[in-house]
Amino acid sequence: MAPSNQLEVPQKSRVTVVGSGNWGSVAAKLIAFNTLHINSFHDEVRMWVFEETLPSGENLSDVINRTNENVKYLPGIKLPKNVVADPDIEHAVRDANMLVFVTPHQFMEGICKRLVGKIREDAVAISLIKGMEVKREGPCMISSLISEILGISCCVLMGANIANEIAVEKFSEATVGYRENKEIAEKWVQLFNTPYFMVSAVQDVEGVELCGTLKNVVALAAGFVDGLEMGNNTKAAIMRIGLREMKALSKLLFPSVKDNTFFESCGVADLITTCLGGRNRRCADAFARNGGKRSFDELEAEMLQGQKLQGVSTAKEVYEVLSHRGWLELFPLFTTVHEICSGRLAPSAIVEYTEHSARLPLLESPVHLN
Ligand SMILES: NC(=O)c1ccc[n+]([C@@H]2O[C@H](COP(=O)([O-])OP(=O)(O)OC[C@H]3O[C@@H](n4cnc5c(N)ncnc54)[C@H](O)[C@@H]3O)[C@@H](O)[C@H]2O)c1
Repeated sequence: MAPSNQLEVPQKSRVTVVGSGNWGSVAAKLIAFNTLHINSFHDEVRMWVFEETLPSGENLSDVINRTNENVKYLPGIKLPKNVVADPDIEHAVRDANMLVFVTPHQFMEGICKRLVGKIREDAVAISLIKGMEVKREGPCMISSLISEILGISCCVLMGANIANEIAVEKFSEATVGYRENKEIAEKWVQLFNTPYFMVSAVQDVEGVELCGTLKNVVALAAGFVDGLEMGNNTKAAIMRIGLREMKALSKLLFPSVKDNTFFESCGVADLITTCLGGRNRRCADAFARNGGKRSFDELEAEMLQGQKLQGVSTAKEVYEVLSHRGWLELFPLFTTVHEICSGRLAPSAIVEYTEHSARLPLLESPVHLN
C-alpha cells in the first residue's frame, strides 16, 4: 500500500501543435509561454513541421531546433526554447492530450486520416484553421472533420489575429468556440490567454468557425475594391454586405448559430482586420490591378513565399454549397467573388454589385428557402 503522505499527483497536460506555418509558429510561441508558467501543463510544446529543405540544404525542423526560429514562416521572431520542432507527425502527437491543429485547411483530411489510432484516447483538440471541406452531403467544418475522423471533441479558436502582429506582442483578442464542455473550453482559454492576447469563450463552435472561414471571401472582395481604387465608402459597403452574407449563410447552414457571435473578436473584428491587412486582401488587390490577367496561383507563389491563400479555395467551396442548395442569387457578394476568382467575371464586377433589398430579408428566415 502507498504511504499516506504520497498524494496522487494530477497528470500534467501535454500539448502538440500540428502545423508550423506563420500562425502555427505564433500559436506555439503563445502556448509555450503559458506551459512554462502554468503548473498544470508540461513545459515542452511539440510542433509538427511539414519538413522541407531550405536553400542552405538544411532541414527546416533542424534549423528551428538549432536557432529557435522558424526562419521560413516566422523569420526574425525567437520561439521559446521549450518549443521542439518534430518532423515525424506520429511521434509528435503520441504523448499529447491537447492537440492544436493549425495547417492550411486543404491538408487536414489527409493529416487526420494519418493520425487515426495514433493519438491518446483522452486527447482533445482545438482548430485554428479557417476553411471548410465540401462533401456531397454538404459543407463539413474542419472541427467536425477532426471530430469525425479522430473521434475526439474539437473546439475552435478564431479572431482578429494577423499572426505577424501577435508575434511582436501587439494587443489583440480571440474567441474560443465550444460545443458543450465549458471546462475544456476554459482549459484552452488558459493555454492561449496572455496579457497581450485576450481570449474569451462562447458556446457556438459553428458560428465562430464560420466567421473565421467566410470572412476570407469578403477580404477578397475588399482587395478587389482596393485594387480598383474605389475608396473607403465602397470598401465599407462591401464589408457590411459581406458581414450580412456571413451571418445569413451561417444561420441557414446551422440554425443554432448565435447573433452575438458576430460581435465577438471572431466576427466583426476579424472581418475588419482581414479586409484591412490580410494576405487575401493583398493578393486580391494585386489581382484587380492586373485586370485579372495573372492567376491567384501565380500571385500566391510570388507574394506569399510558401504561405497559403485560403480565400480563393473557400470562395469556391462556398459557391459549391450555394449552387447545390439553389442559393446563389441570395448571396450575390459570395457568388460574384468566386466568379471573379475563376475568371468568369472581371474584377470590376464587384462594384457593379447592388444589394437586392427585396431578397435579403428572406435570408433571415430559412423557412422561406425550403
Ligand atoms: N497567418 C495568419 O495570420 C493566420 C491567422 C489566423 C488563422 N490562420 C489560419 O491558420 C491556418 C494555418 O496558416 P499558417 O499561417 O500557419 O500557414 P502558412 O500559410 O504560413 O504556411 C503554410 C504551411 O503549410 C505547410 N504545408 C505545405 N504543404 C503541406 C502539405 N502537403 N501538408 C501539410 N502541410 C503543408 C507548410 O509547411 C507551412 O507550415 C490557416 O487555416 C489560416 O487560415 C492564419
